[in-house]
Formats: sequence, structure tokens, C-alpha cells
Amino acid sequence: VQTLTVLGLESSCDDTAAAVVRQTEGEPAQVLSSVVHGQTELHSAFGGVVPEIAARAHAEKLDVCVQQALEQAGLTLQDMDAVAVTAGPGLIGGVMSGVMCAKGISAATGLPLIGVNHLAGHALTPRLTDGIAFPYLMLLVSGGHCQYLIAHGPERFTRLGGTIDDAPGEAFDKTARLLGLPQPGGPSVEAEARNGDPKRFRFPRPLLDRPGCDLSFSGLKTALMRMRDQIVADKGGLTRQDRADLCAGFQQAVVDTLAEKTRRAIALYLETNPAEPVIAVAGGVAANTAIRSALESVSADAGARFTAPPLHLCTDNAAMIAYAGLERFRLGARDGLDLTARPRWPL
Ligand code: KG4
Ligand code: ZN
Repeated sequence: VQTLTVLGLESSCDDTAAAVVRQTEGEPAQVLSSVVHGQTELHSAFGGVVPEIAARAHAEKLDVCVQQALEQAGLTLQDMDAVAVTAGPGLIGGVMSGVMCAKGISAATGLPLIGVNHLAGHALTPRLTDGIAFPYLMLLVSGGHCQYLIAHGPERFTRLGGTIDDAPGEAFDKTARLLGLPQPGGPSVEAEARNGDPKRFRFPRPLLDRPGCDLSFSGLKTALMRMRDQIVADKGGLTRQDRADLCAGFQQAVVDTLAEKTRRAIALYLETNPAEPVIAVAGGVAANTAIRSALESVSADAGARFTAPPLHLCTDNAAMIAYAGLERFRLGARDGLDLTARPRWPL
């Protein structure tokens, strides 16, 4: 029986993170530490993540994160079996900072280096938190990603569909911006929607008329903008109630779209994987109560078990990278010091 301890690094978007994960074969994995330094305040003045600023901040913060992750785990680099790092997809400068840092550690200590696909990190998280077995259906919904995957193994995924434009979190963030609500938009739009009437405004349900699991969210933003401008033209401005109703209508459109596409994804998954079906969701948008309960009921209707990692492991973190690295390492995967950072890297 082999116990593996892996240091993980993540720097592909606007969170710098390091973590230590340990697993004894046949036992649940343990997150010994997980440190995340967000960059929200660095980018807030610009209305989005600025790649140059992100890359510089990652380069400055990675060492500190590694130090803290090791300290919190009560371990040193000598106790590690490998170092895993996000090698893509993501903002190239940030990914390069992480890969360079991991290479430095590997070169200095002789620890094996494992490059991890960020999306695989998200997609394997339900195994880290819940120990679920392959295969399972995965919905990844965040500010940057939106896709349905069947996870067959640590390195084997089938993509059933995904967004053809914006990710849902991005749509929530843009909605908040258009209505003058604070960022990140997800939580503020959800809070407003609680007091709103989802039926007052008719938002489109994009791509429902087309077969398959692809999604589209950019049309919702355009619809919202038109509705907002109409109210402003009619009444000179938005009331609190107008805002709440717009948020409720928008959120309901996202809920309905995700529910229907998830129904279809489950049907596809069940065609080939009928025994003990499990549906997992990850990504920041999984924090949304309305979305979560819709997915829960769709899963229950299909007789599938529904699982979502705790929120701090749903959003970007390095524990998922350490764990995905650990799974690859167990399979014998090793990368050399020629590991490259990849801005695009489909699963
Ligand atoms: O996974 P995440 O932390 O970062 C990546 O995009 O990788 O997800 C952040 C996204 C943001 O767009 C945020 O607005 C959205 O998740 N989000 C939510 C909620 N909480 C966070 N969207 C809808 N409802 C929420 N309660
Ligand atoms: Zn992510």
C-alpha cells in the first residue's frame, strides 16, 4: 500500500494557490493544506482580469503560497513525492509563472514534476471530496468554463457539450455590471433575484430548440441590455423592483437552460453508463442555490446521485491540482523540465 503526498500549484487565472494533498491507496484523500490568494482587488478598477497584472502578481505570490501550504501541512519539500502544477488552459503569463516555479522546485529537490490540466483538476474534485468512482457525469460551471464531461479516468474524459460563447458566471458578472450591482456578479444577482418576479420579463432560452448539450449565454446579456434601456427610456431610471425583476428573469433563464441541457447530458451518459449514475457539479456558479436545486431535482428525476464539492474546492484552488497530479502520478505519469505552459488545452 502506497501513500503519496503531492504539492500542487495553481495560477491560471486570478487566484494564486498552493496545496498539499495526501492519499494512501484505497483510502480517502486528505487535503493537508490549501492556500488561495485572490487578486480581485488588483483587477477591480479594470472591469476584468488584466493578464499582465495577473502574471506579475502570481510570480510574486507563488513562493509565499508554497511556503504557507507546507507550513500549514506541517511538512517540508522533503516530505513530498511529487510537485504538480497547472500547465493550462488559462492566461499564458500566469500559467508560465506556475510552471516555472514548479520546475524550480523540481530541479532543486529532484521531485518528479507533473503537469495538470486545470479542467481535469475541477473534473476530478468529486473524487477528492467524495471518493466517487469512474465513470461519472460532470458539469463544470464557473466564470470561465461551462461544459458537460463524462469522466472515465484521471486522463480520460468525453466532452458532451458546452457553451459556444460566454460561461454562465461571466453572464452573471455582466448582468451585475449592467445593473450597477457589485462584483462578483453571481452572489449579488442571486440576492436581488430573491425579491424579484421571474415572469415579468421574458428572457430567451438560448439553443433549447437545437438538439444536443451546447449552451449559449451571450444572448441573455443583450436581452437584458435592451430591457434595461427600455425601462430607462420609459421612466427615466430603474427602481429597486425593476432591478430585482430583471435579475430574477435572467437567473430563471439560466436555471431553465442548465436544467434542460443537464437532462439531455444525463440521457447521453445513461446510454453508455447505466449502473449507479452519479452527477457532479463544480465551479463557482454551483454556489447558486436556484441552479443547484434545479440540478438536484433533474438528477433525482433521472434516478442519479447528485454531488457537489464544498464551495472552497469548487472555485479555483490548488488542492484539486495536487489531487489530479496525484492520480496521474499513480498511473506512472511524469513530466520533464521541458513541460510547457499551454494557453489552450481541451480535455
Ligand atoms: O470557479 P470560479 O471561482 O472562477 C472561475 O471562473 O474559474 O467562479 C467564479 C464565478 C464568477 O463569475 C461568479 O460571479 C460566479 O462564479 N458565482 C456565482 C455565484 N457565486 C459565484 N454565479 C451565480 N450565483 C452565485 N451565487
Ligand atoms: Zn477554474
